[in-house]
Amino acid sequence: MATFFLLCFLSMDASAISFNKLQLPRNAAGPEGMAFELRTGHFFTGVADGRILKYQGPTIGFVDFGFAAPNRSKSMCDGTDILKPNPRCGRPLGMALHHRTRRLYVCDAFYGFGVLGPKGGFVTQLSTGADGEPFRFCNAIYVHQPTGNVYFTDASSAYDITQFQTAVSVDDSTGRLLKYDVENKQVTVLFRNLSFAAGVAVDKAEKFALVSEFIGNKTRKIWLQQGHKPYRSEIVNSLPTPDNIKRTRLDDFWLAAARTDRRTESSLLPLGVRINGNGNVLQTVNLEQWYGNNSVSEVEEFGSKLYIASRLVDFIGVIKYKDGKILGRQYEKN
Ligand SMILES: *[C@@H]1O[C@H](CO)[C@@H](O)[C@H](O)[C@H]1NC(C)=O
Ligand SMILES: *[C@@H]1O[C@H](CO)[C@@H](O)[C@H](O)[C@H]1NC(C)=O
Ligand SMILES: *[C@@H]1O[C@H](CO)[C@@H](O)[C@H](O)[C@H]1NC(C)=O
Ligand SMILES: *[C@@H]1O[C@H](CO)[C@@H](O)[C@H](O)[C@H]1NC(C)=O
Repeated sequence: MATFFLLCFLSMDASAISFNKLQLPRNAAGPEGMAFELRTGHFFTGVADGRILKYQGPTIGFVDFGFAAPNRSKSMCDGTDILKPNPRCGRPLGMALHHRTRRLYVCDAFYGFGVLGPKGGFVTQLSTGADGEPFRFCNAIYVHQPTGNVYFTDASSAYDITQFQTAVSVDDSTGRLLKYDVENKQVTVLFRNLSFAAGVAVDKAEKFALVSEFIGNKTRKIWLQQGHKPYRSEIVNSLPTPDNIKRTRLDDFWLAAARTDRRTESSLLPLGVRINGNGNVLQTVNLEQWYGNNSVSEVEEFGSKLYIASRLVDFIGVIKYKDGKILGRQYEKN
């Protein structure tokens, strides 16, 4: 009997997992990144038509919160196709909240690195380039909470979001890791030659950054506390198409990535993977059942849930999760 129950538990099939969808408003799709408010559990996400939406709980749902395109018009932009990003509408990707100051840092693929206050509205641009090179594809952001320092990526210095397929076809490796120092308001380049820098997270002690290289199919650990540049780095994980990286309270990291479909050998299937600071896989969550072969952009742990964003769907996925375990429907009643 005991063995029987143990086997049941270990093989808990995907259909038993508690998965819910937070549906975006009817004309919004393509959530890429998320940023949570600690106290309320409400969160921000950027969608394909240039809006930053705020989720305000089940009763209110998603409301318009901000945008980075200076001339954005709702009538022209709302509902823009996920595959046709428009510079007149903007395309917010990564976002991160500095909790103490309530500053929401935003990477917009067209408008670079900026910030929003608690009232939202038009994003204040903080920087559009570094070392004489403009940002072409501002993509991911991480805020180190104790210092307020902001780390962000320019996925490519050569190709913008409308040229993504070209970047893939030439194996672009001109991405950069950047740092915004809140004290002196300067942006510095920390690392270059990244093969499409799509995600970044920094450990609690600010000793290293993990940066995903989406086109290069690798995740790199970059040591930050070192006198000279370039910083030392090593490849610590080689899952295909790694995207955003989010740190957990326990100093692990959730990586949105993929695996090759063994049946077709060609298509990729979406995964959420929890890794440690050395890139070792601690846990894998298969997301194919809900996302098919759509890639996922971000997996983030908040409260006792995993939230999943994908720039190819029109909802945020939510999986119950506690103490390192995926919870099934049978747990939902308590
Ligand atoms: C916004 O509109 C103004 C006035 O029509 C124009 O001069 C400006 O170039 C536009 N900016 C962008 C980023 O489209
Ligand atoms: C790295 O990038 C710099 C400029 O960003 C470029 O000059 C250099 O050739 C690159 N190095 C390699 C090995 O690609
Ligand atoms: C990354 O992985 C994908 C899918 O397996 C593959 O098609 C692509 O060629 C790989 N890219 C590189 C640069 O290795
Ligand atoms: C992804 O899935 C769709 C429908 O399920 C299928 O038509 C398509 O061929 C798949 N794409 C790849 C690259 O396997």
